[in-house]
Amino acid sequence: MTKKLIVGNWKMNGGLADNASLLAALLAGLHDSPADVAVCASAPYLAQLQALLRGSALDWGAQDCSAHEAGAYTGEVSAAMLRDFACRYVIVGHSERRQYHGESDDLVAQKAQRALAQGITPIVCVGETLADREAGRTEFVVKRQLSAVIHAVGHCASEIVVAYEPVWAIGTGRTASPEQAQAVHAVLRAQLRAASAHSSRNRILYGGSMNADNAAELLAQPDIDGGLIGGASLKAADFLHITACCPRVAAGI
Ligand code: PGA
Repeated sequence: MTKKLIVGNWKMNGGLADNASLLAALLAGLHDSPADVAVCASAPYLAQLQALLRGSALDWGAQDCSAHEAGAYTGEVSAAMLRDFACRYVIVGHSERRQYHGESDDLVAQKAQRALAQGITPIVCVGETLADREAGRTEFVVKRQLSAVIHAVGHCASEIVVAYEPVWAIGTGRTASPEQAQAVHAVLRAQLRAASAHSSRNRILYGGSMNADNAAELLAQPDIDGGLIGGASLKAADFLHITACCPRVAAGI
């Protein structure tokens, strides 16, 4: 069994004071966590995360990066800049970016490539809309989204983290059932296996209204390797409870 990975996606929330108290509460509660744990903040706070979390049990990351390397792209943040702040992860292709910023599968794939080139693990989000699901297109959509990334990153496919986030479950309080989530995770697992001989390194997270009440059941599914947590990651007690739901894996596995 792989060690689970629990990632908080703070989205466009937080501030210097709120972040400091949330991080202090997380660090106080995270000793000997059974899972790998990280939080992803907005770019202006990465320096704060680096200062407060360096050497701790909590990793940090960003929520997006540019598809470009450097240059005249006003407002963009490059993967190299994220590396300056020692980001371990960067979320790419979150459905809010696909939806509100028109990000295509190819653009998301370029972002994943840029992150890998800087030694940062991209957390590649995939997920179907309610209309897709109702039309029976879930598998087709998530495979298409992941396939663009696999194609772009080539032999680095085993270095990505995938997050399955059904769009209809994000921030809605409506979670995929453990069986629904497991079914899609199994599809993504098969796709990753076909892409790389080292796919045992890939972790596939579930995201979409995961909370303290439903996490244990979701995390018990064989192909759910962790969670990408939005709303519940802003409350220390809830986020810590989710991390504590993860089974302990013997060291070195
Ligand atoms: P949620 O968000 O947990 O608030 O549904 C998850 C995400 O968007 O990553």
